[in-house]
Amino acid sequence: MDTTKKILEVKHLKQYFNVGKKDEVHAVDDVSFDIYEGETFGLVGESGSGKTTTGRAIIRLQDPTSGNVNFEGRDIASIKKRSDIMEFRREMQMIFQDPYASLNPRMKIKDIIAEGIDIHHLAKNKQDRSEQVEELLETVGLNKDHSSRYPNEFSGGQRQRIGIARALAVQPKFIIADEPISALDVSIQAQVVNLMKKLQEEKGLTYLFIAHDLSMVKYISDRIGVMHYGKMLEIGPAEEVYNHPLHAYTASLVSAVPEPDPEFERNRRQVPYDAAREFDDKERRMVEITPNHFVKAADDEIEEYRQRAEAYKIK
Ligand SMILES: Nc1ncnc2c1ncn2[C@@H]1O[C@H](COP(=O)(O)OP(=O)(O)OP(=O)(O)O)[C@@H](O)[C@H]1O
Ligand SMILES: [Mg+2]
Repeated sequence: MDTTKKILEVKHLKQYFNVGKKDEVHAVDDVSFDIYEGETFGLVGESGSGKTTTGRAIIRLQDPTSGNVNFEGRDIASIKKRSDIMEFRREMQMIFQDPYASLNPRMKIKDIIAEGIDIHHLAKNKQDRSEQVEELLETVGLNKDHSSRYPNEFSGGQRQRIGIARALAVQPKFIIADEPISALDVSIQAQVVNLMKKLQEEKGLTYLFIAHDLSMVKYISDRIGVMHYGKMLEIGPAEEVYNHPLHAYTASLVSAVPEPDPEFERNRRQVPYDAAREFDDKERRMVEITPNHFVKAADDEIEEYRQRAEAYKIK
């Protein structure tokens, strides 16, 4: 895994909706972050914080209001040649939250999985296509004899495996997984996450993994970014962000994660968070407080964050 090469750079991304109207919303408001080749970048935040909108702008399902997204060193807005657009669409894939809504109920599994193979002409002939589909089914832990079945014959977890097989079919480099496990039973969630981890290692994939829930994100991610009201508030190595949160909002998210230890649960104190502070008119930027651990801070807040980081060291 080459964790020094940037595969994705998001620079000052803004996505505003209903501009100039009463219901104008700044869904993504000046967000910047990088993702390194082979890593999993976890994007967390509560409902409405702008996670999906960020993902959709990265994969170019919508044009951003302003800002840039560079994929493999190239601004995706500048990709104009049809063959280059096709290549971009193949290299970057998305896995969706709802495995029920994202699979066409009238299509057989083999045709759902082979859609990308057909579009990108990745099969030599019919037999090659079937063989690829069968191999993909096996890769994601499904029975290859089930390729003629329809989505309604599968459970939620199996459908998400089909969604993963569909994404893998075109041999992508980068996968945006938008809450891929939140619609699944808790007992199934870890299986799907473990499958994604295994596939990442085997195929050298890079993931943008979007979720509400910090506990699973911490487990799968190398680094985590925390979003709130369209802004990125903190970015750092997963363990750092989880164990040594700098921003008060991150601390409140961490304190809401349930722990299996009953003693801990009895003594739990949920940290409240007052968002008012984000809406003052201070200029804030991402400041590196400890190595690779950034927090959005105004100049007169930096010292406080430095002290917080110091206090963690002493503990
Ligand atoms: N096409 C759109 N038109 C208008 N507003 C939109 C549009 N898409 C998203 N929004 C708004 O942008 C904000 C961010 O939405 P987004 O779906 O990105 O949040 P999210 O973090 O993915 O939330 P969730 O966890 O619920 O999926 C919300 O206020 C949402 O209502
Ligand atoms: Mg979303």
